[in-house]
Amino acid sequence: QTEFETILVEVSDGIATLTLNRPKALNALNLQVLEDVTAAAEAADADDDIRVIVLTGQDRAFAAGADIKEMSTLDFSVAYRRNWFAGWNRLTAVSKPIITAVNGFALGGGCELAMMGDILIASEKAKFGQPEINLGVLPGMGGSQRLTRAVGKAKAMDLCLTGRMMDAEEAERAGLVARVVPHDELAATAREIAETIAAKSLIAAGMVKEAVNAAFETTLEQGLRYERRLFHSSLATADQSEGMAAFIEKRDPHFTDS
Ligand code: CAA
Repeated sequence: QTEFETILVEVSDGIATLTLNRPKALNALNLQVLEDVTAAAEAADADDDIRVIVLTGQDRAFAAGADIKEMSTLDFSVAYRRNWFAGWNRLTAVSKPIITAVNGFALGGGCELAMMGDILIASEKAKFGQPEINLGVLPGMGGSQRLTRAVGKAKAMDLCLTGRMMDAEEAERAGLVARVVPHDELAATAREIAETIAAKSLIAAGMVKEAVNAAFETTLEQGLRYERRLFHSSLATADQSEGMAAFIEKRDPHFTDS
């Protein structure tokens, strides 16, 4: 298994857990973290033995944002030419389900990273925010877009313009977070959700991910057609025959991802 400089990777029972590992910098996202997270996620996506990815932080932070020390000397021409932050698209291109388990600060790029996953769960200690405005900049890894789609204009403007933090309870009420759990149950809950999904057909799970994501990129009519076509396609899979046969025969399905 590949070793990474800024993340820990643990694989068991078809679940790859990626833990951000720069605790002294509150897991600030520098270029190495971008490279490590995206490479590990792509490797997991390509590995037939892995079905679900969990991304989490440790100690007090999920991630306290893009690395301000690295960015402080970044200028327009370099950022523009290198299309700074675009590399994170490699993570959102992953086809397997990603659970982001937010244990503490998820600020700026940390909040944006949490939103790049498919199911966001949070510890009661989690804190979310887009404080870039306090640095004289604005979100750059999707905050103005994904946060607005998740919680609506009112709260997105509130968070991005004031730079304030919101706790897990408020984030759940606003629709950013799928579930809030006691802090010491976060890892177990992430694992439980991952195991539940890992038992499904990988093809059906991939199609669910594609269909739900299409809701953010298409008109309703296009999205409904896309969903319907994916549904029609699912009828071509052995997993559909198995899933429906198992239901009728009153037994558990045995999916083969085919
Ligand atoms: N980048 C680099 N280092 C960071 C960091 C960041 N985003 N956040 C925290 N750190 C470092 C601190 O510099 C400090 O390091 P030193 O011990 O070497 O000084 C260490 O982590 C611990 O942080 P604090 O001493 O500040 O801890 P605290 O408990 O007093 O405060 C905090 C915690 C409120 C989260 C505070 O660290 C903070 O405000 N961090 C910055 C949050 C932020 O502005 N994030 C947005 C970044 S910009 C961005 O993300 C752009 C984008 O859209 C992609």
